[in-house]
Amino acid sequence: MSDDPLRSVDLRKTYFTKGTPPVEALAGVTMSVRSGERVALLGRNGAGKTTFLKIASTLLRPTSGQIEVFGHDVSTHPDRARPYIAVVPQEGKPFFHLGPREMIYTYLRARGLSRETSKARTEEAIERMNLTEFADRLCITLSGGQRQRTMVATVIATQAPLLFLDEPTIGMDPFARREVWASLRDLTTKGSTILLTTHYLDEAEALSHRLYIVERGRVLVSGTADDLKRSVGGTLKVSLPEGAPQAETFRSFGETVVDGPSLTIIVHPERLGELMELALARSLTATVGPVTLEEAFLRVVGRNIDED
Ligand SMILES: Nc1ncnc2c1ncn2[C@@H]1O[C@H](COP(=O)(O)OP(=O)(O)OP(=O)(O)O)[C@@H](O)[C@H]1O
Ligand SMILES: [Mg+2]
Repeated sequence: MSDDPLRSVDLRKTYFTKGTPPVEALAGVTMSVRSGERVALLGRNGAGKTTFLKIASTLLRPTSGQIEVFGHDVSTHPDRARPYIAVVPQEGKPFFHLGPREMIYTYLRARGLSRETSKARTEEAIERMNLTEFADRLCITLSGGQRQRTMVATVIATQAPLLFLDEPTIGMDPFARREVWASLRDLTTKGSTILLTTHYLDEAEALSHRLYIVERGRVLVSGTADDLKRSVGGTLKVSLPEGAPQAETFRSFGETVVDGPSLTIIVHPERLGELMELALARSLTATVGPVTLEEAFLRVVGRNIDED
């Protein structure tokens, strides 16, 4: 297909479990991640994100379709694809009877890095992800967030060409999340490529160049966060706390949502002035803010659910 870090064409996966109906987890996913990109895979619980990442990282075989890592077919030649990738699995656990320092070092050595490089990268990762305080304590004694930081630090330290991170910042405090974001940005400036999943849409927005929304095993939308916002009618929202009774008046400006007495209108920036003048003429107070990715996501996915 190509030498992109990742490319899939009509990828399908059906799980068969004895005694229960088959589950079509992926129903034809075509996507690609270009070199140096950070791409987020978004979608509701059960949409198929983890299934996709498991197949991409050679842990699971697809039912049909093609998927390649740097031009190597993942299902026919997993051994060729593996050296390029490193994975933070969903709900992955560090080795409980190693400490973070030993865990990172051992993992890097197992991937074939030299003693010196492994040592240097281990110390760098410990420093960067603030693991110093507990770097030599057994992972079994660490808090949930500390364990997750250890897992992510281990995978980041590989500096692998292609990283898959399945909900990497789950359970992390806001400071730790930002350290992960900074580390992932650094990695891509050094040439790595990243595909991650997250339910934190502020994270997806802060981190990703592009995103794919998966819904029931299919790609529903792809593009930038701004593309997604534009697709729901604008990048700004105006809230009129007392505007509900006059909702009709504002309908021509864009999508409107009535919530109790308040009215919210999603609007393109070029029509903002006109809208504000109208609100003023009607003696309505108004506040303007950006449409968040979460709001756009709820609308796009919600619309799709409604259609079915
Ligand atoms: N081993 C399995 N056997 C049968 N069904 C499975 C198996 N693993 C996943 N599924 C089903 O496949 C679908 C996709 O699951 P997947 O784990 O890929 O979703 P996800 O998008 O990662 O969800 P989440 O956001 O909750 O992590 C779900 O309906 C799930 O119940
Ligand atoms: Mg998942």
